[in-house]
Formats: sequence, C-alpha cells, structure tokens
Amino acid sequence: MECCDFNWLLLSIVVGAVFLFTTLYSSYWYKLGVRCPWVPKPLFGHFFESIIGKKHVMAVWELIYQKMGDQPFVGVYNMRTPQLVIKDIDLINCILVKDFNHFNSRGINFDVRSNPLHNNIFVNGGERWRIMRQKMSPGFTFNKLKYMIDQIKECIDCLKLNIDKIVKEESGEIEIRDMMSKYSTDVIGSCAFGLKLDAINDPDSEFRKYGKAVVTPSIRNQIISAILLTQPLLLRLLPKNNRRQETISFFKNAFQQTIQYREKNGIDRKDFVEQLMKAREDLVLNPESKNTDVTFSEMDIVANAYILFIAGFDTVSTTLTCALYELALNSTIQNRVREEIQCEKLKNAGQLNHEFLSNLTYMHMVIKETLRKHPPLGILERVVTEPYKIPGSNVTLENGTKIIIPIRSIQHDPKYYSNPDEFDPERFSKENESNLYPNTYYPFGDGPRLCLGKRFAELEMKIALSEILSNFEILPYEKTQIPLQYIIGSFVNAPENVWLIFKPINT
Ligand code: HEM
Repeated sequence: MECCDFNWLLLSIVVGAVFLFTTLYSSYWYKLGVRCPWVPKPLFGHFFESIIGKKHVMAVWELIYQKMGDQPFVGVYNMRTPQLVIKDIDLINCILVKDFNHFNSRGINFDVRSNPLHNNIFVNGGERWRIMRQKMSPGFTFNKLKYMIDQIKECIDCLKLNIDKIVKEESGEIEIRDMMSKYSTDVIGSCAFGLKLDAINDPDSEFRKYGKAVVTPSIRNQIISAILLTQPLLLRLLPKNNRRQETISFFKNAFQQTIQYREKNGIDRKDFVEQLMKAREDLVLNPESKNTDVTFSEMDIVANAYILFIAGFDTVSTTLTCALYELALNSTIQNRVREEIQCEKLKNAGQLNHEFLSNLTYMHMVIKETLRKHPPLGILERVVTEPYKIPGSNVTLENGTKIIIPIRSIQHDPKYYSNPDEFDPERFSKENESNLYPNTYYPFGDGPRLCLGKRFAELEMKIALSEILSNFEILPYEKTQIPLQYIIGSFVNAPENVWLIFKPINT
C-alpha cells in the first residue's frame, strides 16, 4: 500500500472512531421509547450552549422543561451521559420518597481515589451513605442546634462590626455575596471544624481561600465535569494537580488539630465536630461492623467535615445574598420583617435565642420565598440503584440511569406559583400555604436524602437577617444589577456582583 493511501485509511479510521464515539450513545433513549426535547448535538448532547459558556446551565434546564410540555419525563444527553428529566410531580415523589430504595444515590461520578475528600455523605450511596447519615444526624437535632446559637452569634457580631466600619469609612456600599460568604465561612468553620476563623476581618483567611477555590468556576473544573460526562477514564490523561493535594492536606490537618486539641484539653462543645468525633470513635477506632462489610478510615471522617463546610457555606451565603437583594428592592417587605424583629426582641428582652428565632414567622416566609425564587441548587440528582419500571409506562430504567429533577423550573412554573417572578412571601402564609400545589417546593430536596443542614441553615440565616435588618436599612443604588446576574459554571446557582447600600438605623 502506498504511503498516501495508508494516511487516508488512518484518517478515515480516526474520523470513523470519533464519529462513533460522539454519536453511538445517542440511540439510548430512542431504544427505550423515551422522547428527547430536541435532536442532540454529537458529543455535547443537549448542553452545547452551556458547555461553550454561552448560556447558564440553568437556562438550558429551563428550556428543556418548557419543551417538555405535558410529558411526564424526557431523555436528554449531558455530553455523552443519558439523563432522564422528570416533570411529573407524582413520579418525582415516587423517586424521592416512596420508591427511594430504587434511587438511594445521587450517582455523582467523583473519583474518590484521587481525591478522598469526595468520599463523603453527599457523594456516597447505599450502605456507606446510610451508616454515615445515621452517625451524623444526631448533630442536627433541635437540642444540639440550640447550643450552636452562641457560636453563630460570635460570627454575626464580627460581621456587624465589619459592616459598621464600611458604613463609616466607605459610605456603606457593600458587595454582599462576598460579605455573606465570609460570614457563612466563619459559621461553618466554627461548627464543623471548631475554629474561630474571622474570615470577615482577615482577608488572608486560609479557609476562605480554600472555600473560594472550591466554589469558583475554573476551566480545569469545567473540563473535568465534561470528561466525567463523556468518558471518565480520560481523566487519567489530565496532568497531576498539586493544588488538590494541598487542599486535602489543609482540611486533614485542620480537622485533626481540632480533634487533638479537644481531646487534650477535655473540651466539650455541642457542635458538628463533636458528632464527627463520635462517628470516628464508632466507625474508625472501635468499628461496630457487625452486619456490614463497609469500613471507614480517618480520612472519611475528614471528608465529611469537609462536605459540611462546602455544602454549608455557599448555599447559605447565596440565599442570604438573594434575600437581602429582594428586601432591598421591596422596601415594604423589608420594613415588615424589621418590625417583626423589633417586636419579638422587645418581647424577649433583647435575647437572641431559640424562642425569639422561632417566633419570626414573617421572616420564615421571606426565607421560604427566597428559596423558591432562587434555589441555590437548581436540580436534584438521583441514580437508579435497583431496576425501576416507571408507573403507567412501558419504560424500565436499568441500574446506573441518571435522574434529574429540575426543581428551579418547577418552583417557577406558573401552574404551581402564579406570577413566579414576583417576590411574594405571602404565598407561604399559614392561610395560603395549604392551598399550594403539594410537592412542588424542593429547595432542600426531599425524602431520606433531604438536606441534612436544613434546620441549621435556617437558624444561621435568621440570626444574620435579624442582626442586619435591626441595625441597617438596605437599599439598591446605581451599581445594583437588576435582575441578578448568575455566575456561569458554578455548582451553586450563585449571583455575582450584588452591590447594595447599608444605612445605619438609629435605634
Ligand atoms: C440555604 C441553605 C441550603 C440549601 C438550599 C441546601 C440544599 C441542599 C439540597 C438541595 C441538597 C440535596 C437534597 C436532595 O438531593 O434531596 C442538600 C444536601 C445536603 N446538604 Fe444542604 N443546603 C443548605 C445548607 C446546608 C448546610 C448549612 C449544611 C451543613 C451544615 C448542609 C449539608 C448538606 C448535606 C450533608 C447534604 C447531603 C445529605 C445526604 O445526601 O444525605 N446543607 N442540601
């Protein structure tokens, strides 16, 4: 064979292989008799525009939701990964709650061998998840949370002093996402790592630096996500990442130092560290492993402290940012929340305790409406862990099928929430809430994998809003972007550059 012919043959084989690699998967849904919202693009599937950074991924999920019309579910391809998107509310309830045994995992494809911090309750499924959830849950009970109020109060005091300083020195203009991220970093650093971080005042805080690095979108992370959805084996071709090793060591050392310090000094503080130390005692030092093959290492405990930090700081700071933004634009609602705070403070002799916080019913409605309009996680994920026949259809889902529940779109569907773009806390008043369409509100997920930190997050947000609103009036100004602009490529649906003015209230 001549050299030229050989080159052509080689090229044809390569082109043919690439064509097959990028298109073969796309008959998956067709073979199961499941419709797609539109024809997928080779390799990119239905997510071409978000992968090239032209659209926010939430805009693509919203478009899919719109195109679904009355169909209970459709199949999409995220790169080469088939995912089933569910719109039917009853089916969602089956997946999350009634038939949970068929969907006990999120199916997140992290490589836990190369990054052991990913071996945590959020990523794990099956028995490993069940055991860890059982060990961690007692740390989130009403009684335990009561003890954490003082730890949170210390952080809000620092935040208040910092705002005071900005108001005096810089005319009160604040980029609130950054400010709220520092506050939530301090809170979760204190409760999950037992450390007084002071990220609010310390621009070089290591925790803030690592937390920021994890949630800030980077090209490398985007490439990794795309590879995971295409062919996870290709990850091995990526050059080694030294930053990852640094992050692992940082969190490992921080947690181990806290454990040593507490053990040596006999410190007894009712927080998540205490719960994780108990889990370490039961699962690592004296494993009870009577009926299970699952084993846990020191690093697994660190990984779970890490996930509390990651799950806890960006979600809370995003929600607080969106709440303050909405309150700045709706002064009547802001005044009503402030009046409620002042009235309850008077009744409670100024004490910011559990009783005071649970009486803030209007603030609770405001937080609920914020989470309806701006859920930090726009989708819920599950994976089929036992084959499942979708009720009322001929479709049987095999193990490993990925499921997506587009909660942001559901919470913006005018069928369930009239004027969905309007910020209206009254939807969640006692009288109105019972008229809402059931099972259409999922900011914290649902079923056995419901957010573990829900009550803690509500507590933390109420303390922050109480202290901010009783001391400052929040106003929009020319630098405030309306509507909010979301960061493309971030895991949490996070707004960026949210500038507001804080004016002190003379009480
Ligand atoms: C406004 C704040 C928060 C929001 C909106 C939020 C939302 C969520 C959502 C949607 C999930 C997935 C639920 C599902 O798949 O059904 C989740 C899981 C989780 N969240 Fe949160 N979260 C928040 C704050 C927190 C905080 C403060 C912590 C910890 C201190 C936390 C810890 C977790 C954990 C550990 C899981 C995994 C639970 C499991 O798989 O068993 N979250 N969260």
